[in-house]
Amino acid sequence: MTTMIDGARIAKGIRVRVAARVAAAAGTALVPGLATILVGDDPASAVYVTAKRRAVREAGMRDIHRHLPQQATQAEVASVIDELATDPGVSGILVQLPLPPQLNAAPLIDRIPAVKDVDGLTTASAGQLARGERGLRPCTPSGIIELLDAEGIEIKGACVAVVGWGELVGRPLTQLLLRRGATVTVAQEFTIDLAAVTRPADIIVVATGVRGLIGPEHVKLGVTVIDAGIHRTRDGLIGDVRAAELDGIAGRITPVPGGVGPMTIAMLLVNTLQAAEWHAERQSVTAWQQLQARSPLGA
Ligand code: GUN
Repeated sequence: MTTMIDGARIAKGIRVRVAARVAAAAGTALVPGLATILVGDDPASAVYVTAKRRAVREAGMRDIHRHLPQQATQAEVASVIDELATDPGVSGILVQLPLPPQLNAAPLIDRIPAVKDVDGLTTASAGQLARGERGLRPCTPSGIIELLDAEGIEIKGACVAVVGWGELVGRPLTQLLLRRGATVTVAQEFTIDLAAVTRPADIIVVATGVRGLIGPEHVKLGVTVIDAGIHRTRDGLIGDVRAAELDGIAGRITPVPGGVGPMTIAMLLVNTLQAAEWHAERQSVTAWQQLQARSPLGA
């Protein structure tokens, strides 16, 4: 029997807990606000941003949105990011990717202050992750860790095959898994024998953008398979894993849709709440320092 991992249910639980924290902060300066930036008319990106914004509002957070035209210049996008970066009402900033081809994404992403980088994609956030310092982690990888924890799947000591080393999932996930004590092997497009890498693994995470890449020939009996792929077909959404062919072989598997996707959005809310709490923490430290400076004993 293969168990489907219900990412939608686990994500819902996280969203309810975040909403309760936001409600508790109502009326204070701590109410989190997420700013989403969408450039151009990519239909898939528009769908993702709409889903993120709806989740933000449902959690009781402030939804701030900027939609720029497909022809927007580097300077125009940079100036929108800079304005949101200095706005105290904005806890987190998310630039939806991919950007139109005339834009260079990396320097734009790096304009987001690390404390507002709720996507965890800036160079500063990547460095904090690599060094194990406090910081915001990318949402899909942290959502995958949450899924494994929620299912009671032991990460420490597990052999994990990460298939795909992309910036959004594979690379940061590898760091998170290593920190949790997993033995991680990373496969990529130049891996000669993919099955030789994935077959011994207790957990396989697939994020390649190659539809139906992983099948029964790649797994051992009882394996946990996490599918971070998503492809639109005439028959609906499918992932990087041929899930139906793994029925009865895999111990647990995430469906597409309803597996990793909802977790990404839930973790975006967690990061936005975290960013708002850090902001409040910095404010109270500053207020305390100002008070100290004014007090006759503080000088
Ligand atoms: N495009 C696809 N996935 C993501 C994501 O997690 N964050 C951003 N900003 N863009 C994406």
